[in-house]
Amino acid sequence: MGFPDHRPRRLRANERLRSLVRETRLHPSQLVQPLFVCEGEKVLRPIVSMPGQAQRSVDLVVEECRELRDVGVGSVLLFGLPAHKDAVGSSAWDEDGVVPRAVRAIKQHVPEILIWCDVCLCEYTDHGHCGVLRAAQQRGASPTPSPTPSPTLSNEFPTIDNDATLPYLASMALTCARAGADIIAPSDMMDGRIGVMRRALDGAGFIETVLVSYAAKYASAFYGPFREAADNAPAFGDRRAYQMDLANSDEALREVALDLEEGADIVMIKPALAYLDVIHRVKTRFGVPVAAYNVSGEYAMVKAAAERGWIDEERVTREILLSIARAGADIVVTYHAKDVAAGMLST
Ligand code: PBG
Repeated sequence: MGFPDHRPRRLRANERLRSLVRETRLHPSQLVQPLFVCEGEKVLRPIVSMPGQAQRSVDLVVEECRELRDVGVGSVLLFGLPAHKDAVGSSAWDEDGVVPRAVRAIKQHVPEILIWCDVCLCEYTDHGHCGVLRAAQQRGASPTPSPTPSPTLSNEFPTIDNDATLPYLASMALTCARAGADIIAPSDMMDGRIGVMRRALDGAGFIETVLVSYAAKYASAFYGPFREAADNAPAFGDRRAYQMDLANSDEALREVALDLEEGADIVMIKPALAYLDVIHRVKTRFGVPVAAYNVSGEYAMVKAAAERGWIDEERVTREILLSIARAGADIVVTYHAKDVAAGMLST
């Protein structure tokens, strides 16, 4: 060794030294556990493609929140499985729907945990899309190719009416806020929804309700297992006309800039692992609180390989979550939240 004697290994000699110079840490309060709320009582329906996750009735969601609070998880993100679906997703703003009922029950019994509500129509519409279909197409239109292309169609399927969707999303956001949600997280990817929701919330006096925008949400194949969890598969076509193209990251910066202008308090990147570059660019460029969604497919891959004994689940999970934080995420939405929360306190 020459002079000066550079020995980076000096700081790796033991765990106390490694811990001393560790640059990234994740605290359980930065983790968000998604939960799926269904009708009924004492209902626990395991989600096969996401081992360890389940659909739960409101009473069992409350129980789960108690356990999450006890291991220090800071937040839960609620998704609803409504009893009724229709063309515009009207159960989404039913004050007695599963999500508002869950919010009220959690607030009453586990007030320490932050409640996020995912706002999107896809679990509530009978066609499974995140917005409403163009009016002309809703009336008796079938998802079959039409012989003469209509100017309103970008392809053979009915298209999503962006602006007509916004009031519905705002109603859903207001319903969640009225129930007591701390955070509203729209995941629909319609243009302009953040501004519309902010105005609706402020107008109704919910000036303190936080808006987390799924600002850069990609049209990803990693959402596969979520379709079993939330029963939201589109009945025709796919989501590429509203979710982002996988190849783009400059566009993610434009999406984030717009959502911040419209009033987003926190911006989210989704999925996480295949988009660490986007997380990093967004954090570096804007310096705002950034959340990343470690989605169902990312979780399922870890679980499947771990079940076969091909990887060490605990170490791989920690490595994945740390990489997301190291890239620049302040908050991680992850199905691993409960499992890792207790263990991570010591790192
Ligand atoms: C609803 C929504 C989806 C996810 C979160 N909110 C599904 C989708 O857009 O198809 C996916 C979450 C996951 O895969 O874990 N718009």
